[in-house]
Amino acid sequence: MRDDNITICSACEKDIDEIYNIEKVNFKYPWSKENFFSELKISRSGKGFFYILKIDNIISGYLCGRIVEDEINIINISIKKEFQRSGFGKKVLNYLLKSIEEKNIKYVYLEVRESNFGARNFYEKFGFKNFWIRKNFYSDGEDAIVMKLNLKERN
Ligand SMILES: CC(C)(COP(=O)(O)OP(=O)(O)OC[C@H]1O[C@@H](n2cnc3c(N)ncnc32)[C@H](O)[C@@H]1OP(=O)(O)O)[C@@H](O)C(=O)NCCC(=O)NCCS
Repeated sequence: MRDDNITICSACEKDIDEIYNIEKVNFKYPWSKENFFSELKISRSGKGFFYILKIDNIISGYLCGRIVEDEINIINISIKKEFQRSGFGKKVLNYLLKSIEEKNIKYVYLEVRESNFGARNFYEKFGFKNFWIRKNFYSDGEDAIVMKLNLKERN
């Protein structure tokens, strides 16, 4: 997808260093590069997706997750700090939903830290609803809120 200076496309090996640099800034407990390489493999097997968003040809965000039957699980979404709150998270999530239109996916799930109110608001605005709490989900003991988007209700 191209939209003026914005491109969204699938990630590849050479992108991982830049992705990791964004990850380190955005998360207190960042994924390792190996985590990203492993998601790349899964996306190539057809069991997942791994998109990058470029602004003026510079990687400025990414989104990855898994596809299992009629469900999608978003496992990482992140936008470079200086570009947050500018509509890019929404853009990349919409791109994902467009890309799965033919696949008969019914639900999108994700986990978010209970304290990550910014991201929770972002998902709520998108139509996700709180669905479940996973106690002690994160390595530091914080609970995860499982949020769910019902695509049939959204359309
Ligand atoms: C969460 C994240 C992906 C959202 O992407 P974004 O590009 O900043 O979000 P958008 O600009 O598309 O936001 C769309 C709407 O979501 C809501 N929203 C987004 N970020 C928000 C925040 N920090 N606080 C409150 N509401 C927020 C707003 O309603 C926003 O619309 P508005 O700016 O017109 O009010 C991004 O902020 C990010 O990378 N955060 C750090 C990493 C992270 O926490 N990832 C999620 C892990 S579960």
